[in-house]
Amino acid sequence: MTTQLPSTVLIIGATGTIGKYITNAIVSAEPRVGRQISIFTSQATATSPAKQGLLSSWKSKGVSVITGDLNNSDDVRNAYSGVDTVVSCLGRNALASQIELLKLAEESKDVQWFFPSEYGTDIEYDASSKDEKPHQNKLRVREFIRDQVKRVKCTYVVTGPYLDMFLALAPIAEDAGGYDVKSKRAVIVGSGDEKVGFTTMPDVGKLVTAALQHPEVSIGKVLKVQSFVTTPNAILEEFEKQTGTKWTVDHTTNEKLREVEKEKWDANHPIATLYTLRRIWAEGGTLYDKTDNEVLGLTPGDMEPLGAVVKRAVNGEGY
Ligand SMILES: NC(=O)c1ccc[n+]([C@@H]2O[C@H](COP(=O)([O-])OP(=O)(O)OC[C@H]3O[C@@H](n4cnc5c(N)ncnc54)[C@H](OP(=O)(O)O)[C@@H]3O)[C@@H](O)[C@H]2O)c1
Repeated sequence: MTTQLPSTVLIIGATGTIGKYITNAIVSAEPRVGRQISIFTSQATATSPAKQGLLSSWKSKGVSVITGDLNNSDDVRNAYSGVDTVVSCLGRNALASQIELLKLAEESKDVQWFFPSEYGTDIEYDASSKDEKPHQNKLRVREFIRDQVKRVKCTYVVTGPYLDMFLALAPIAEDAGGYDVKSKRAVIVGSGDEKVGFTTMPDVGKLVTAALQHPEVSIGKVLKVQSFVTTPNAILEEFEKQTGTKWTVDHTTNEKLREVEKEKWDANHPIATLYTLRRIWAEGGTLYDKTDNEVLGLTPGDMEPLGAVVKRAVNGEGY
């Protein structure tokens, strides 16, 4: 039975930052993913002028758009009707609402497979992971699934940091690291030679799609996937090569990063999450002896190369 999944897929949070990439990849997949794809979105998004291009492009490919309120059980039940697979791409602020979504999935007759919104840092990487503040909502969702979800099977796709976002130098958090094409300046955490495993945003879509296309290996699994492993200095070299000039480089020590991280959490500043994640990435929390890419049938050649992502940044293409 389960190997026939997915037949009807519902994506929640489809128009979000990573949801767009995941939905685009699912909708354009070859071989096809399922026979029907729908998205569940808020009325505000469905009528937002900024989202019309995206929604029209999906509708032209046969995607149904269901509008409703994520926090209204009847709306969710209605969206689940006839759906066997749910892919949640909900944002950080809505992660906890997945517990109710999972309860409703478990109660429904139709939903059999659920992808909770993860697509990021490994929240069970080692013994210290359970104490990391940004992981708490995702950990609660996993705990609920372990304890309460018996019928529906879940798959977690753990991608590590998105390289596209890692490249950005956020003005309010420069010391957390990043690359600024305009001023040809980089801020690098640590020596810059420490390895980090990244996934590019288009590859997140490709990897989630591969998981959907291979239920026989992905149902019930925590899949650890990546585009490639590189270092902040190798990224800098690629920027220098593509812009044909040497860049100015500032360094933030790991100790300094930890200090600012603490300050931000003490001040209850939302940017604290970024500092924690950057610290985890800089200290090796994205590295594995082996990833699950191969299990999903993806080779290194199927993944985007570093140069492609740096090129998008140099050209000022957003994400
Ligand atoms: N690895 C990384 O570097 C990285 C970076 C960013 C995010 N992530 C992960 O990717 C997942 C998705 O994050 P995202 O940044 O793509 O999400 P996002 O853009 O903030 O939100 C995605 C969608 O969630 C829906 N939503 C409904 N209620 C919401 C609420 N109260 N707050 C936020 N969103 C709400 C919205 O969909 P509708 O408008 O359609 O209703 C929204 O478009 C998360 O698990 C996050 O941790 C990882």
